[in-house]
Amino acid sequence: MIPAASQGEIVVGLDIGTTKVCAVVAEVEGDGITILGVGIVPCRGLRKGIVANIDWTVRSIKDAIESAQTMAGVEIRTIYAGIGGGHVRSSASDGVAAIAGGEVTRGDVERVLEGARAIPVDADRQILHVLPREYTVDSQDGIRDPIGMAGVRLGVKVNLVTAATSCAQNVIRCAERCGLTVADVVLQPLASAEAVLSDDEKEIGVAVVDIGGGTTDLLLYVDGGIAHTSVIPVGGNNITSDIAAGLRTPMAEADRLKRLSGCALGRMVADDEEIEVPGVGGHAPRKCARRVLSDIIEPRVEEIFAVVRKRIEDTGLLEQLSAGVVLTGGAVLLQGMSEFAEEILGMPVRVGMPTGVKGITQLVHGPEYATGVGLVKYGAQAIGAEAAARPTVASVPPPAASRARMQSQAEIPEARKSGFWDWIKAAF
Ligand SMILES: Nc1ncnc2c1ncn2[C@@H]1O[C@H](COP(=O)(O)OP(=O)(O)OP(=O)(O)O)[C@@H](O)[C@H]1O
Ligand SMILES: [Mg+2]
Repeated sequence: MIPAASQGEIVVGLDIGTTKVCAVVAEVEGDGITILGVGIVPCRGLRKGIVANIDWTVRSIKDAIESAQTMAGVEIRTIYAGIGGGHVRSSASDGVAAIAGGEVTRGDVERVLEGARAIPVDADRQILHVLPREYTVDSQDGIRDPIGMAGVRLGVKVNLVTAATSCAQNVIRCAERCGLTVADVVLQPLASAEAVLSDDEKEIGVAVVDIGGGTTDLLLYVDGGIAHTSVIPVGGNNITSDIAAGLRTPMAEADRLKRLSGCALGRMVADDEEIEVPGVGGHAPRKCARRVLSDIIEPRVEEIFAVVRKRIEDTGLLEQLSAGVVLTGGAVLLQGMSEFAEEILGMPVRVGMPTGVKGITQLVHGPEYATGVGLVKYGAQAIGAEAAARPTVASVPPPAASRARMQSQAEIPEARKSGFWDWIKAAF
């Protein structure tokens, strides 16, 4: 486990999703992460997890950052940004390095990881993460943390996550246009997993499935390491479009119907339940059986879980996921999602809420906030890792996960904080 930052640093996670931008501001101290402020703003600038309109995205980021910093009482300068989209790929790689002093040091680990990332990558792609799965020291394998072990040869198996450079650059460009510095660009499902998984689940094997508006993200943990990650470009918005087309109702009404009356499994809906469907273009609303709505939703949800199952089967790791599946992302709030997932995936399923944080957690209590909270946890670990490395490895490059330094964030004037307290009083 990477140590957390030691004293009072402000860390900001910025989840730029297909339906919303969510900025989470936290103070990281010792082992604890305290949420100080949250800004959530609808966003129409992305398509299927990829920035498609810079201006719209910038506007949503600005608004989300503004409300998060007002609530938190700090000026936000640096953020950890999430990235998703079907362009993300992961592949296996490995590396070997000599153990310089007979005992593995942090420097040896950095060198072996640098070796593992030295594989040819297409010119239009960049490496986002080098995720160690296991280390070997001489003939001993299955090692999680090799530092301090005696030997002459250090090996590592990693999962390399790459992204289209243009997509990553657009995320950075949007943040920079808001006057922000991007400390790191983090794969969204990696952040979500950080927020919702327990160490035990990671250890015995688990799949995280984050079903957002535009994408369904998959991440597999096996033996405590990340074994696979991929992004499927289908999500809750496809369900909404199906409803809009099937019931001939506007998208906004289709989304409302889905949230209020939708169900993923038709057989969970009683035959006599009715809903009112608003018409398009001035047509009067009409009544229809709730079963009709679930009959539209069910095939799309089935498709999503069937693709997830196929992806898991293709990795050959299905049997190693003893802890089953953790569902997260806003679309899993749809009634019947866990039950349907259990049927199709043939594994135990639970809904994952963000955990392991203190402060105003009620504002991020929902599966749709897993990525935002996870980005903060990722940032806290990156800062902690960097702090731990500082005295010993002055001559080696910093860890990949914490290449970009977190700048300290300035306090904002007292007058602006008072706005936050007024808001809190009004809200609770
Ligand atoms: N109560 C609910 N019932 C059903 N669906 C819901 C509910 N609440 C939210 N959703 C759906 O969840 C989706 C948004 O989820 P989320 O906020 O996780 O997505 P996002 O992070 O913006 O998108 P992505 O991660 O795909 O880029 C939308 O399709 C929305 O309609
Ligand atoms: Mg999301």
